Amino acid sequence: MKNKKGFTLWLTGLSGAGKTTLAILLTTELRARGVRIEVLDGDEVRTNLSKGLGFSKEDRDTNIRRIGYVCRLLSRNGVGAVSAAISPYSAVRDEVRHAVEQDGAKFIEVFVKCPIAVLAERDVKGLYQKALAGELQGFTGVSDPYEEPIAPDVIVETDREPVEFSLSKILQALEQRGLIPNVEQSRPRRVRSVFPSVGEGLRRNVSVDWRGRSRILNRLFLKRPFQKQVRTRA
Ligand code: ADX
Repeated sequence: MKNKKGFTLWLTGLSGAGKTTLAILLTTELRARGVRIEVLDGDEVRTNLSKGLGFSKEDRDTNIRRIGYVCRLLSRNGVGAVSAAISPYSAVRDEVRHAVEQDGAKFIEVFVKCPIAVLAERDVKGLYQKALAGELQGFTGVSDPYEEPIAPDVIVETDREPVEFSLSKILQALEQRGLIPNVEQSRPRRVRSVFPSVGEGLRRNVSVDWRGRSRILNRLFLKRPFQKQVRTRA
């Protein structure tokens, strides 16, 4: 992909919806396809670039403008920038879109959608419980606004789709815009997917096997040998 602008892939959604997971899987897949990628993850950015910022509207807007600024610099220099921050306010998301596009790079907004009831049930960080009990003020989706994107480029529904299917949708959007090499169209063995079932789900237009997802996530996060995963009964 010589002399090409990069792109900004903007994942927006509530805390725990799956933005970070998708960003990690995307990075693995895109690096395997030879695409230069950087991730700006909300939780991580808040420990360095945005250290000291809180969760008022003003601070959140500042946080998003900073993330957007870095995405803009990266994408105009041929890098694919992935943002994984809640980014609850549509005006600032649009502001970032315009800034990125002004520099001739593409901005793809992905709505990582999941109902609050499911998130409160998952509650990986225990924050929803605190927010619902009133111990944590101004928590997005509970006691602070989240403005859903009106016309996102992609919607992934993480409570209904296996993560590989969500990943496929995003990859397809990038492929269709000519921003990443297409696994299907490239010559055999030139560009290969890390995830064998990515693409399969979209080709058949059906969800891929949940067991496939757990094997892949285990392989990435637990670093266990792929073959040694115990197969659970359907
Ligand atoms: S954003 O609103 O500025 O885009 P960002 O994505 O950086 O948020 O950070 C969100 C993360 O901060 C959440 O995933 C959660 O772990 C943590 N967090 C702590 N307090 C809050 C809060 N009041 N609202 C939302 N997230 C919070």
